[in-house]
Amino acid sequence: MNTTQRVRKAVFPVAGLGTRFLPATKASPKEMLPIVDKPLIQYAVEEAHAAGIQHMIFVTGRSKRAIEDHFDTAYELEAELEAAQKHALLKLVRELQPDDMSFSYVRQPRSLGLGHAVLCAAHLVGNEPFAVLLADDLMTAPPGGEPVMAQMTRQFDKLGRSILAVQEVPLEHVRRYGIVVGETVEPHTLKVSHIVEKPMPEVAPSRLGVAGRYVLTPAIFDILRDQPKGAGGEIQLTDGIARLMTREAVYAWEYSGKRYDCGSKEGFLEATVELALQHPEVSESFRNYLKGLSL
Ligand code: UTP
Repeated sequence: MNTTQRVRKAVFPVAGLGTRFLPATKASPKEMLPIVDKPLIQYAVEEAHAAGIQHMIFVTGRSKRAIEDHFDTAYELEAELEAAQKHALLKLVRELQPDDMSFSYVRQPRSLGLGHAVLCAAHLVGNEPFAVLLADDLMTAPPGGEPVMAQMTRQFDKLGRSILAVQEVPLEHVRRYGIVVGETVEPHTLKVSHIVEKPMPEVAPSRLGVAGRYVLTPAIFDILRDQPKGAGGEIQLTDGIARLMTREAVYAWEYSGKRYDCGSKEGFLEATVELALQHPEVSESFRNYLKGLSL
């Protein structure tokens, strides 16, 4: 790989079962759950696009057709909106597919784990660095600042090696994350020396948890190809990253911004309330509604 190569492609693994959100996710993808008026996957695609990424690659599974439809042209809807002169809505629908954005889809035949899902995109990514965004982690930019993936691709342009987005998490939550330790090499950047998937709090080497944003070098594909099953009988991306570290440097980026775990009911509700309070159309009335609740 040419280390000066820029990140042009993003992989969105959306083939998980979403069991924490059943029954909502029985027949429709968790990534299509809306926060206010936009599905989770659209927030993630917009974040990737804001980082200069143009090729969006979805690793899909059964019951995920709605994602393909969402990013496809909707002729009937557009014709109806045009006839009714609903120009603002038409713009909203068309903005989903900017001219410089392309989409590819590949199926993960079974939910064999995140590492396996990423490997399913290998032939579409090729021999170049790529981003991975887990859409159920909704990331908002810091006020007036850059979105998280843009922060990461900027770091990648400097370092030319894989980068994991990390944040400090409460000790009682370390079991939900890949946890990293490393040496600080520049502000907000660590060179990772150790990564462990979902440790118990008493053995966790740190409280720095990996959030659902990665920039990876293509070396990860060779590693994932012969990666044995790990925790939960799944091919874990974290295990692959641990092996990648024996071949080349891997960095962790302490991002600025806020993460909502929208794969969990609580995180989803928090995102809904907070983003509604910032939404130009509903913020004022929703704030008044909340104030009127006797909690
Ligand atoms: P999660 O751990 O959130 O799993 O996966 P999940 O199946 O989606 O949800 P729960 O835990 O059953 O409620 C993290 C990300 O990896 C993707 C998921 O779609 C999600 O974005 N994933 C996971 C796959 O694409 N394939 C897999 O085999 C596993």
